Amino acid sequence: MEIIVCKTKEEASRKAAALVAALVKKNPKAVLGLATGSTPIPLYKELIALNKAKKISFKQVRSWNLDEYWGLPPTHDQSYRYFMDTNLFDHVDIAKKSTHVLNGLAKDAAKECAAYEKAIKAAGGIDLQVLGIGSDGHIAFNEPGSSLASRTRLVSLTPQTVKDNSRFFKKAADVPRYALSMGVGSIMEAKRVVLLAFGANKAAAVAGAVEGGVSQFCTASALQMHPDAWFFCDAAAAAKLKLRKYYTVRGEEALARELA
Ligand code: GLP
Repeated sequence: MEIIVCKTKEEASRKAAALVAALVKKNPKAVLGLATGSTPIPLYKELIALNKAKKISFKQVRSWNLDEYWGLPPTHDQSYRYFMDTNLFDHVDIAKKSTHVLNGLAKDAAKECAAYEKAIKAAGGIDLQVLGIGSDGHIAFNEPGSSLASRTRLVSLTPQTVKDNSRFFKKAADVPRYALSMGVGSIMEAKRVVLLAFGANKAAAVAGAVEGGVSQFCTASALQMHPDAWFFCDAAAAAKLKLRKYYTVRGEEALARELA
């Protein structure tokens, strides 16, 4: 696990974007795993800028998203499909048909989830998975208590996540209680993982994920078992890491080697 600690989320996002860009340059047909939430927005802004400057092309890139609210149509302004279109896909040269988000209106959740996993496998698996982190340490919608071997499935959201995400809805009662989500086991199969964490309300989750025990109570901690996981944090999100200074030096060296 490499941990890059930056002063600001903009700087951290620029560095994370450099890793994504290096992959897409090396493999124009890369398979990206993408995330929603407020955290990846500056990363997506960087990728849009790189695409507009013709430094990278998404023409042949394929993408699969982590999760989707159960019961929201793709046209709903809080659906994750809508989020991806408006925050990334509509602004880069990716083919919309190559972008995949779980269907929150699927009649049969289990069938939808199984087909999603099958499609990722058929594409050769995810080369690089972008992740945010919930304030309780969840990745995608793998809430505390999710098996670390879990696969894509219908999940129920904790009251904390509903509360956290209510800021995007008119009122808390509008936040869906269920979602379709890739599992921890599915995420662990990505060849590389890039997790972004910004702000003081993520500091405990980051400390739990990096320095706590591997536990289904903090599903991001499973990434300790991943052979190629990168955390990009701002100073506030990294504040509770005991070995922050050591990680910073080591992480910068690793990133420089990667981008050389
Ligand atoms: C939701 C998403 C996660 C995301 C988390 C944090 O729960 N399913 O993928 O990491 O929100 O969101 P934010 O980045 O807005 O803090």
